Amino acid sequence: MSNVLIEKALALREEAMEKLQLIKDEIALDGFFATYLSKKGSIKGLLSNMKDVPPEERGNVGSEVNRLSAEVQKAFEERKADIEKRKLEKRLKEEAIDISMPGRKAPSGRINPYHLIIDEVTDIFLSMGYEVIEGRDVEEDKYNFELLNVPKDHPSRDMQDTFYLDAGKLLRTQTSAAQAHTMVERSVDPTPIRMISPGKAYRRDDDDMTHSHQFAQIEGLVVDKNISIANLKATLELFAKKMFGPKREIRLRSSYFPFTEPSVEVDVSCFACGGKGCNICKGTGWIEILGAGMVNPKVLEMCGYDPEVWSGFAFGVGVERVAMLRYGIDDIRRFYANDMKFLDGFIGK
Ligand code: PHE
Repeated sequence: MSNVLIEKALALREEAMEKLQLIKDEIALDGFFATYLSKKGSIKGLLSNMKDVPPEERGNVGSEVNRLSAEVQKAFEERKADIEKRKLEKRLKEEAIDISMPGRKAPSGRINPYHLIIDEVTDIFLSMGYEVIEGRDVEEDKYNFELLNVPKDHPSRDMQDTFYLDAGKLLRTQTSAAQAHTMVERSVDPTPIRMISPGKAYRRDDDDMTHSHQFAQIEGLVVDKNISIANLKATLELFAKKMFGPKREIRLRSSYFPFTEPSVEVDVSCFACGGKGCNICKGTGWIEILGAGMVNPKVLEMCGYDPEVWSGFAFGVGVERVAMLRYGIDDIRRFYANDMKFLDGFIGK
């Protein structure tokens, strides 16, 4: 009997070892364990027949069956480890990150061409020793109009109607308000001024291709001793050459602003056709880019600078106008529409 049990165990071990080699996954492994190695499994199950073995042989038979069972158990563990290892390797391969793949790009914002122009103009004037003064959008009538020689009933106010706020405040119609502020602030102990002030201005304009109720200007102001219109012309000529190219020339046309005397409109020779005449300069060869003039002595006086001692010039550049000319933009409303397709056109400009 003992031999029969051991032979059965040997045959089962043989069968189990063969089956084990065919097993490829964990489900089959579980099935194998239940069949051959669980307490009810075939090899261990042989031990339930021990009662039929003569008592003196039981020890021998039992240990032989256990040994064979342990051999199968060991082979099972090895197979299991092997399958797990292969599964892990497969997973690592599948989930591997290919660091040579191009990354997914997050869409980034772009600088609005209007800010590109402000930055460029600011750089030019910083290189000439100007300081940048931050103005304010909400102004008092006094700084936006009165100190700039536009009294309450002045007809030029009609052209610069604006948005009125509580307590006599308004949204400034021109960055020129920053001129008045700067002079008033410094008039306690008057020192020379050389400043620009970029920022927004507001007017009750009908919005169309070239007008917007909100737009940007860059104001400039120089106050010192012995400043003449020659300084104004030389400064603006240098600005035009740096901004639009070394071949550009400027011309001054007489004009009127209440806070400058004399006043001029400044044209730059057309950077598209070089002055021959094209559709950008409307056939004239010249493009109007800014308003300027010598600071009106009345304004100097009202702002606390003695006009007998001090003189100066001022200018105001329309930012969108310059951007439209520079980049060939047809409609001023594009600047504020936050259209990524439009803004994408200005990468790296
Ligand atoms: N403030 C004027 C305007 O908005 C421009 C200007 C500024 C003219 C400074 C002369 C001097 O039209």
